[in-house]
Amino acid sequence: MSDERTEEKPGESLPTGANHYRAFVGPGQKYDLMAAMQFNLLTLLGLRENHTLLDIGCGSLRGGRLFIPYLLPGNYYGMEPEEWLVDEGIKNEVGRDLIDLKKPTFSHDADFTLTTFGQKFDFLLAQSIFSHASGKQMARCLSEAVKVMTPTSVFAATYVRGNTNYTGDEWAYPECVTYTPHYMQSLAGEQELACVPLSWPHPNNQSWVVFTHRSNAKKIPSLGDPIDMGKRLRKLEKYIYVKARTKISAVLRKRKARGKSR
Ligand SMILES: C[S@@+](CC[C@H](N)C(=O)[O-])C[C@H]1O[C@@H](n2cnc3c(N)ncnc32)[C@H](O)[C@@H]1O
Repeated sequence: MSDERTEEKPGESLPTGANHYRAFVGPGQKYDLMAAMQFNLLTLLGLRENHTLLDIGCGSLRGGRLFIPYLLPGNYYGMEPEEWLVDEGIKNEVGRDLIDLKKPTFSHDADFTLTTFGQKFDFLLAQSIFSHASGKQMARCLSEAVKVMTPTSVFAATYVRGNTNYTGDEWAYPECVTYTPHYMQSLAGEQELACVPLSWPHPNNQSWVVFTHRSNAKKIPSLGDPIDMGKRLRKLEKYIYVKARTKISAVLRKRKARGKSR
């Protein structure tokens, strides 16, 4: 009989960006946690089942596998240029029945054409998107976002905070690129939006911000003490099940490699 706790999780031993629906979007051991952290943040920011959500760069539905069941039918929208990721996410994580029930809408546009859905959104999400995007792509995304946002829309996004700004024109992947908080503020300012930093922790040390209309900025809740939140996340990551699984997969990998060399 197979013991699920000792089996390697899908794509766990592959590097980020590998040709596997889980590994492509990030470290396999954190696939579950990355989903939970997005979902928890958005619900903390006020996402309820009647809201509409646009998940920009939804990948293999890492977050979608929690958002789609939660939202009422027709309220989840995903944009993802790599169509195969969405197909694999449906096949392996969400299931056809739930898609039929919840009727999410997908677009495979690669130029951040957020207006393609022909409607406004209560919430927008760009999780691990600006950590790979050029300044030009982020500006395009925000210029589109402002067209599909209402005065109270909340656009939560992550970026990698640094002392320098990526100056390339291309999407960088799987490596990450950095921007200064000042740069993020000025991008928002170009669209007359506010950029509110959040203290919500991120398993890969990215920083969260909310873009919203200036008149709505004061309504974005303070999420508590960042040090305390960081401690909580580290505790989650040290969870015995995760630690044991990481060790077991390393042993399995070594065994497999030994088997092949025989
Ligand atoms: C690190 S993954 C994050 C996926 C998802 N947000 C998550 O958290 O699981 C980055 C995603 O952005 C997608 N992407 C690349 N170029 C894009 C573009 N122009 N517009 C939207 N998404 C894009 C990639 O295909 C990939 O699925």
